[in-house]
Amino acid sequence: MIDTNVNRRQDHNVKWSVTKNDDQLLPMTIADMDIATPQFIREAIQRVLDKKVLGYIMPSTGFYDAIIHWQKERHDVSLKREQLIMLPSIAVGLSLAIRHLTQVNDGIIVMSPCYPPYRQLVINNQRQFVEFPLVQREGQYVIDFDRLDQVMSDSQAKAIVVCNPHNPGGCVWTTTELQRIQDIANAHHVLVLADEIHDDVAFSDNRPVSMLSDLMGEEAANQTILLKSATKAFNLAGLKCAFLAVKNPQLLATLKQAAAAEATEEVNTLGLVATRTAYEQGAQWLTEVNGYLEENRNFAYEYLRENIPMIRPMYPEGTYLMWLDFMAYGLTDDELDAKLRELGHLCLNPGIDYGKTGSGFMRLNFAVDRSVLEDAMHRLKTFDQAVRKK
Ligand SMILES: Cc1ncc(COP(=O)(O)O)c(C=O)c1O
Repeated sequence: MIDTNVNRRQDHNVKWSVTKNDDQLLPMTIADMDIATPQFIREAIQRVLDKKVLGYIMPSTGFYDAIIHWQKERHDVSLKREQLIMLPSIAVGLSLAIRHLTQVNDGIIVMSPCYPPYRQLVINNQRQFVEFPLVQREGQYVIDFDRLDQVMSDSQAKAIVVCNPHNPGGCVWTTTELQRIQDIANAHHVLVLADEIHDDVAFSDNRPVSMLSDLMGEEAANQTILLKSATKAFNLAGLKCAFLAVKNPQLLATLKQAAAAEATEEVNTLGLVATRTAYEQGAQWLTEVNGYLEENRNFAYEYLRENIPMIRPMYPEGTYLMWLDFMAYGLTDDELDAKLRELGHLCLNPGIDYGKTGSGFMRLNFAVDRSVLEDAMHRLKTFDQAVRKK
């Protein structure tokens, strides 16, 4: 059963901390859900707690089998246990791959707008952040492949980060698009760092294809590092458990050694339990949640199109994130953020944080109770009316 009756106000969570100075403010930010982590996962954690000792544990065969089965059944990715490396987070995995598979000053291509920590991970590891702007066509992002080819030859890039489904745009890249990325990357000897953390949040009109899916073929299998966790779909981000999958034996050997050197595989006990339980028992719950999120998406998208035409939403093909274009108001990024807070008592993620291409946008998280989403829409309407009156 989906449970949206959660109150996170008093917790030290990132999302609701903004209400400290304005308790009227409604945050619709950060990519976790105001939907309870499923009960069967909380019960599995409780059973561990009931054993009264939280000492060292190690991932069991059952744990690896759960990942392997899930990835095969849901994403057509055939994996062996030895191709998996455990991580506390996707960020740690990206950093590990960047540091051990590329050299200082190498270029890492990132499609922009992008999840903000990508930039920090690249720059703080002394690599060149090669920003590759996505192009808008009919209100959705597309990839300019000729330009990608050009950027790969000009920048001496050694890797490209491919986020699918895309945060913040919500795009689900098609198989053809993924194949073209792989072909161009192959031609330039560029590794593909595939961040698929959002791919279990999938709607009936669009199913993400994994870069390591069997249908993607040998070339992709050889040059892809897959990064994944159960955290977005099952709301487990605080439990710090993720994994990386590599099929190329040389890349695998390098990353195994790197993971041993940096002890990344020592992940959180409760994270292991939650991830295994999610993948073993979570299919039905996930179907329900995805159905709920899909209705939320449809509601918000249609509401905005009908009632606030000056805000232009991108249609989220995946993720619980909606990317909203506010450019018609002619406000600066700072003004936009301030006026949403002052006039609408609404806090969204400023698009400018996702790169220059995000200027004029805001990101809204719709993984909330429907009534909260309705409230957010009404606040946007209040903002719209107040700004237009001035
Ligand atoms: C695309 C993407 N990658 C990675 C992460 C973070 O994952 P982790 O907490 O495992 O580092 C997020 C979180 O919002 C995300 O949206």
